[in-house]
Amino acid sequence: MCDKVRYQIGYGNAMEIRMATMKDKETVLGFCRHTFSWGDYIGDVWDRWLVSCNLYVLEEDGAIIGAYHIAFPENESWIEGMRVHPRHRRRGLGTKMMSHAESVIKKGRIRLVVESENRPSINLVKFVGYELEEEWRLFLMSPERQASSASVAHALSRDVIPDLTLTYQDSWRWQPLDTMALEKLSRGGRVLAFMEGSRASVGIWNRSEDFPMTFQLGLVGGTAKGFDEILKLAKNMAYSMGCERIQVFAAEKTMVDSPLLEKRSLFYVMKKDLGKIYNL
Ligand SMILES: CC(C)(COP(=O)(O)OP(=O)(O)OC[C@H]1O[C@@H](n2cnc3c(N)ncnc32)[C@H](O)[C@@H]1OP(=O)(O)O)[C@@H](O)C(=O)NCCC(=O)NCCS
Repeated sequence: MCDKVRYQIGYGNAMEIRMATMKDKETVLGFCRHTFSWGDYIGDVWDRWLVSCNLYVLEEDGAIIGAYHIAFPENESWIEGMRVHPRHRRRGLGTKMMSHAESVIKKGRIRLVVESENRPSINLVKFVGYELEEEWRLFLMSPERQASSASVAHALSRDVIPDLTLTYQDSWRWQPLDTMALEKLSRGGRVLAFMEGSRASVGIWNRSEDFPMTFQLGLVGGTAKGFDEILKLAKNMAYSMGCERIQVFAAEKTMVDSPLLEKRSLFYVMKKDLGKIYNL
């Protein structure tokens, strides 16, 4: 049960955005069945998002026709899973939910990710003031026993990593990769590194929060040779953990192109600064 302040915005008598309840699940999953060519993932995350108390639905005349979630990873703000019922698109409802999110988040930087072919979504987020922060490419790889010269690095300075990315991925949420974040990730055993002289190639790994059999790795800076060694280590780790698949994320600027990887979609990490206080 959510015991936070219950947040609600009215849009005239007939429309409101409110926290989702268990009862809304079936309706939302009903209109999300064919969101993308492969279906949708909302059914896999709904229960977890619901207990976070930051899952919202848009209701008009008693009918649920929109939904979205806000996450707060490491005190950052992340918007995800925005869905408008296919029959109600292009009526400004996505815009209303984005503005609702801002009124909940109130201050600081908001991020979200959109697939580079998803024109409606890109147009919507640009329309409400988001700008591109980084481009990340998704690759797939399979778990496998592999020898590798890379290792887990428990302490690593930013200065030894060439072309370090601005952000890193954690369960499909991108967060800033500043000095503090890198230190924390290193202490947590999340940093994989390969040294060539005084230069390090670096990857950051995690188990997906939403899909426990999925190992994720983000390549955040380094050389082609270094990345290859890190990929082999990741294959080995995922195999030892019993994971079924590996998702690898590489910033497009690194131009990673390893034979170990199967290339998939490009994603845009978008950001917007709210400044200090949102005026209701
Ligand atoms: C993306 C989505 C949430 C947009 O919701 P929406 O309610 O239709 O968006 P809005 O009506 O507020 O549109 C705002 C602006 O976004 C742009 N836009 C929205 N849909 C568009 C489309 N199909 N083609 C081009 N531009 C589009 C337009 O600039 C639009 O302003 P305009 O109508 O005045 O030209 C909706 O299309 C959707 O649910 N898509 C499937 C799920 C998805 O892709 N979610 C986001 C990825 S996580």
